Amino acid sequence: MSVLPSTHVLPSPAVPAAPSATPCGGSPAPAVRTRVLHAVPTVEALPTVVGAGLRVPTLHGDTAYANLDHAASTPALETVKAAVDRALETYSSVHRGAGFASRLTSAWYEQARAEVATFVGARPDDTVLFTRTTTDSWALLSKALPSRTTVFVFGSEHHSTLLPWGRSRTVRLPVPQTLDDAYALLEEALVDHASRHRLVVVTAASNVTGEVWPVARFAHLAHAHGARIAVDAAQLSAHRRIDLAAWDADYVAFSGHKTYAPYGAGVLAGRSDWLDAGTPYLLGGGATRSVTEDGTAWATGAARHEGGSPNVIGAIALAAACATLRRHARAIEQHESRLLARLRDGLDGVPGVEVLSIFGNDSDRVGVVAFTVEGWDSALVSQVLSVEHGIGVRDGKFCAHLLVDELLEDPWGEGPATAVRASIGLGSTLEGVERLITAVAGLVEHGPAATWTRTSAGWVVEGPDPRDVEVERPW
Ligand SMILES: Cc1ncc(COP(=O)(O)O)c(C=O)c1O
Repeated sequence: MSVLPSTHVLPSPAVPAAPSATPCGGSPAPAVRTRVLHAVPTVEALPTVVGAGLRVPTLHGDTAYANLDHAASTPALETVKAAVDRALETYSSVHRGAGFASRLTSAWYEQARAEVATFVGARPDDTVLFTRTTTDSWALLSKALPSRTTVFVFGSEHHSTLLPWGRSRTVRLPVPQTLDDAYALLEEALVDHASRHRLVVVTAASNVTGEVWPVARFAHLAHAHGARIAVDAAQLSAHRRIDLAAWDADYVAFSGHKTYAPYGAGVLAGRSDWLDAGTPYLLGGGATRSVTEDGTAWATGAARHEGGSPNVIGAIALAAACATLRRHARAIEQHESRLLARLRDGLDGVPGVEVLSIFGNDSDRVGVVAFTVEGWDSALVSQVLSVEHGIGVRDGKFCAHLLVDELLEDPWGEGPATAVRASIGLGSTLEGVERLITAVAGLVEHGPAATWTRTSAGWVVEGPDPRDVEVERPW
């Protein structure tokens, strides 16, 4: 029986063999804290996603699925699926076994860490942790902060980035009107709230408007006042480069399921000192150096916060996504900017459509566009897009209630309470964008094709909902 796939290559010597911990008294864990710079050849073609040919039922029969919902979760990349399939053939424990498969799986886990370190532009002494999601990363960081750290966060943040720090130590800044306003608000707050440890938390790209925040400038401002900065890259990671070192930021977090690697891994990367001194996130096997009747000595480095058996498949999936995104960065940017330009231009031409923005029309954006359609409930718009046109978008307040409430504020109280969000990625096509524009224009001009009723469970189409088809379970 062949144990290894024929294409098997032994772990590259780039993975340091130096042991940093022996989790549960087992085999040494290779330590990877160091940025490994791989020069990757640029590939001009777009990488493909799993399910690119998906067809979905609509009122008018099957149609190609127009995926305009990447800001919620991205599909998996084909390269990610291939990496996972391959890793599963030798799947074994991480840092807990002496067998060959365990050794190989452990090495791949640490290589995945090195790949992610490169993807985020980590400095040699940064720690790169695998978590579950951005939400999980912030929960970890929040627990590891030195006591009495003051956290500064804008009301425009996603709830996962707004809330984990605890109300008593959070200075919540208002949703800014302009970028200059944002700097001024932050500077004033930093001057007003002196404390030994301070952390500014900002998003790299808004999950509502797609607007890109110039994090390097915020980092400069934070550091000028002796504070650290943590960057929420959940909406940036699939679209643009994350660069901790170039931004001079202290921490960054992002999610695999928004980065074409939906296998349950996320990342927190950044300065080691607070992480090494902070309370271990998951107390248990793997996070300890030694346990005796007299006490527990906790590990430092990644092991400290990665108690329990790690999600190695998630880590490998994420590393594969990072490698692919780096390789295809130019092609991805061209594809997305073309689709985004058409989406914005098309929506601009539809009467009654209002695109949400914090900093104004000309601000730099990734492919995330939230909009309202005058006279139409956003929940109905998104249902019509799905049922009548086979388009996937999201509606609501996108877990950013303070921001959406602010942007939709209507002095007469009659404005729409929620918005529709179309978000672009590698699963989106120009045809899908055109279909969305045509569908919204058609809705404004003629109303929906079907009859819709609002119920306590939301909008319901008259007659059978075409999406209620019987589909076999995948297991
Ligand atoms: C900007 C931003 N931050 C944080 C999160 C939370 O990410 P996750 O649900 O992967 O924890 C999201 C999710 O939509 C987001 O868009």
